[in-house]
Amino acid sequence: MQKTIWTAKNIPNLNGKVAVVTGGNSGLGFETAKALASNGAEVIIACRSVERGEVAKEIILQLVPSGTIKVLHIDLMNLESVQRFAREVKSIYARLDILINNAGIMISPYALTADGFESQMGTNHLGHFALTGHLLELLKATPNSRVVTVSSLAHKQWNISFGNNLCEREESYNRFRAYARSKLANLLFAYQLQRNFDSHSINCLSLAAHPGASHTNLGRYMESNVFIKLFRPLIERILPSAAAGALPQLRAAVDPMVKGGQFFGPSGFMQLSGSPVVIKSSKNSYRTDDAVRLWDFSEELTGVKYEW
Ligand SMILES: NC(=O)c1ccc[n+]([C@@H]2O[C@H](COP(=O)([O-])OP(=O)(O)OC[C@H]3O[C@@H](n4cnc5c(N)ncnc54)[C@H](OP(=O)(O)O)[C@@H]3O)[C@@H](O)[C@H]2O)c1
Repeated sequence: MQKTIWTAKNIPNLNGKVAVVTGGNSGLGFETAKALASNGAEVIIACRSVERGEVAKEIILQLVPSGTIKVLHIDLMNLESVQRFAREVKSIYARLDILINNAGIMISPYALTADGFESQMGTNHLGHFALTGHLLELLKATPNSRVVTVSSLAHKQWNISFGNNLCEREESYNRFRAYARSKLANLLFAYQLQRNFDSHSINCLSLAAHPGASHTNLGRYMESNVFIKLFRPLIERILPSAAAGALPQLRAAVDPMVKGGQFFGPSGFMQLSGSPVVIKSSKNSYRTDDAVRLWDFSEELTGVKYEW
C-alpha cells in the first residue's frame, strides 16, 4: 500500500453511502465533501454558519450537478448544538458510513466554549468526542463504517496535560501549546476509539489523518503577524492546495485496504506534502494509559457516555 501513488482518482464508487464532514464549508473539509459527493456519496456539510455551508454546497453542485448534499448547523463550541445536530442526523438518516471529524481552529486567542472549555481543546477534541459518541448508534448500524479524525504535525510538539480539566489556564495560556495538545488529543482519541471498537466487536474503523501543510483559512489567527503579512503571497504560492491536503483524510475514509488505527499523512519531505501513506505518530500518541485517561476525562467533561 505504501508505494502506490494515491490520488482522488482512486476513490471508489460511493453510491448509497452517507458521510458527515465537520467544517465541510471550507479548506480541507470542503475538498473532502466535494470529492465524496463527486463519487456518489450523500454528504452532510456540518458547519457553524449555514450561510457559508450553502455557498459551499452551491459551488460543489456546480461542479457535480448529480451530487446530494445537505447543510446542517453544528457549533462544536457548544455541546447542546452538537447534540442537536446528531439528533437531526439520526432523524433523517438510518445509516452513517463515514464521519470525518475535520473542523478545527488553530492558535486562536484565549476563549471559552459555551460549556467553559478552552476553545481549541473544546472545538478540536471535546466537540468531536461528543459528536462521535452521539452518532455511535448510526455508525454501529452501518456495516464497515469509518470515523476519520483530522490531526496535525503539531501533535508532536507537546504531551497531554490532564490539569485544569484538560484545558490551558488563561493566565499561562500558550496558543501554540493549546493547539498542539488538542491535535495530540485527536490522535489519542482516534486510537482509543479503535481499541474500543475492537473490544466490543463493532464493525467500524477509526482512523486518523493529517494534511501536512496546505493553503486554507486555518491561518486566520496568524494574519496580524508581520512576517506572514509580508510573505503571504509567496506562502500561498508555495503551500500545497487544500485539495492535495485533503487526500490523507480521503484515503483514510475510502481506501478499502486500510486497517483500523492507521494514521495517514503525506509521504514527502517532512510529511508536508505528497501522496497519502500510512505514517507513524509521536510516542506520546500511542500511550494507552493517556488515551484511557483522556477518554474518561472527555466522557466526564462532555457528559457523553459511549453506549457500546
Ligand atoms: N491547513 C493545514 O495546513 C492544516 C495542517 C494541519 C492540520 N490541519 C487540520 O485540518 C482541519 C481542517 O482545517 P483547514 O485547514 O481546512 O482550515 P479552515 O479552512 O479554517 O477550515 C476549518 C473548518 O472548521 C470550521 N469550524 C471552526 N470552528 C468550528 C466550530 N466551533 N463549529 C463548527 N465548525 C467549526 C470552520 O468553520 P468557518 O468556516 O465557519 O470558520 C471551517 O469550516 C483542522 O482540524 C486543522 O487542525 C490543517
